[in-house]
Amino acid sequence: MELMDTASSGLFITLEGGEGCGKSTQASLLGEALTNLNMKVVVTREPGGAPGAEIIRKLLVEGELDRWDGLTETLLHTAARRNHLVNTVWPAMSLGTVVICDRFFDSTLAYQGYGHGIDLDKIRAIHSASIGNFAPALTFIFDMPVETAFQRINSRAGTELRYENMNLEFHERVRQGFLDTASSKPNRYKVINASREASAIHLDVLSIVLGILKNQERGYE
Ligand code: TMP
Repeated sequence: MELMDTASSGLFITLEGGEGCGKSTQASLLGEALTNLNMKVVVTREPGGAPGAEIIRKLLVEGELDRWDGLTETLLHTAARRNHLVNTVWPAMSLGTVVICDRFFDSTLAYQGYGHGIDLDKIRAIHSASIGNFAPALTFIFDMPVETAFQRINSRAGTELRYENMNLEFHERVRQGFLDTASSKPNRYKVINASREASAIHLDVLSIVLGILKNQERGYE
């Protein structure tokens, strides 16, 4: 399936940010709120969101830090993304669904580009050769100081620690990457102060999304 096969009736919203910024909580809260308004909603994530992509996710988020170099990571994230789009996102969008995605291409620019130093134009070329020019209508960047985020996640258990274990300088570059990307297109990107209470952040996120849905004349009152 290619982009032109997908109907334009769906809405693709992405949530981005560094480790521990609370975006997964916000994705769930937004999904619940829109479902309660009787909208068709899919909440999904990257890397992952489809059976094949979830297998690639395990390769990326587990194991030793030096398991992959930055370019190999770029290729693996892009392969996972294509599998996710083909199997989950594009079919849902063709049915008019609002797709809320926890991370997307901006994470590749931030982590592999700014974090690992892979040339941004090379990353964009790999992306467009694999995915085309499909892009979110709206992207939230959840921003907070890296040290505060790491205090939050210090107690996190589990095996998905490969990126978390990269050093603070890496994560500072990632944060800067998201902010630079956001400043390039202020209409599409909404930078959210993620240091606040989850409930307050949710109200901001929901009001921005409802504003866009209203503009699209989706019948939402
Ligand atoms: P998560 O913990 O938010 O589910 O994301 C898994 C990790 O994958 C996270 O540390 C960021 C990383 N990642 C990249 O490095 N590049 C990407 O393109 C994506 C989507 C995620």
